[in-house]
Amino acid sequence: MAKEALEVLLSAEQINEKIKELAAEITKDYHDKNPLLIGVLKGAVVFLSDLIREIDVPLEVDFMAVSSYGADTASSGIVRIQKDLDQSIKDKDVLIVEDIVDTGLTLNYLFENLGSRYPKSIKVVTLLDKPDRRKVKFEADYCGFKIPDRFVIGYGLDFNENYRNLKDICILNA
Ligand code: PRP
Repeated sequence: MAKEALEVLLSAEQINEKIKELAAEITKDYHDKNPLLIGVLKGAVVFLSDLIREIDVPLEVDFMAVSSYGADTASSGIVRIQKDLDQSIKDKDVLIVEDIVDTGLTLNYLFENLGSRYPKSIKVVTLLDKPDRRKVKFEADYCGFKIPDRFVIGYGLDFNENYRNLKDICILNA
């Protein structure tokens, strides 16, 4: 099988720099709060683990796993919860952590679903945003990089579950 060609879109250095900026903003906005950061498995794990170590406020972490539901999932917008939170988010300042917003369907669903559980506040931080792919209007509160509509892997993002361990974010030219 031919090896796919990888082209670096965002280097580890660029990602690290951006994470420091995002964390500084989040630290400022949450300086008097004790936020609960919710990582969306699996792609966000690498981003979340680097991000939390740069945020200088007391915080908690939990995880959710979701997947699109049914055959025509890409357009249905129906999302199934595979793993729910371990705790109630009532009266908590929730910050959802995602690796990428693509169509916006996942975050649109999560925002509604978690929003109905009476959090004190709910915001979203995403490392990547592909605005050209949007099917529903969704804007993250904190966004690292807006990127073109190319298939990207690395730094948590996969192709058939591979490449999540790359330090850079790369375009996959299959
Ligand atoms: C990716 C990503 C988001 C979602 C964004 O997850 O982590 O959760 O897709 O896409 P959307 O804006 O079109 O809804 P994926 O389903 O690839 O699962 P993974 O995180 O386990 O890789």
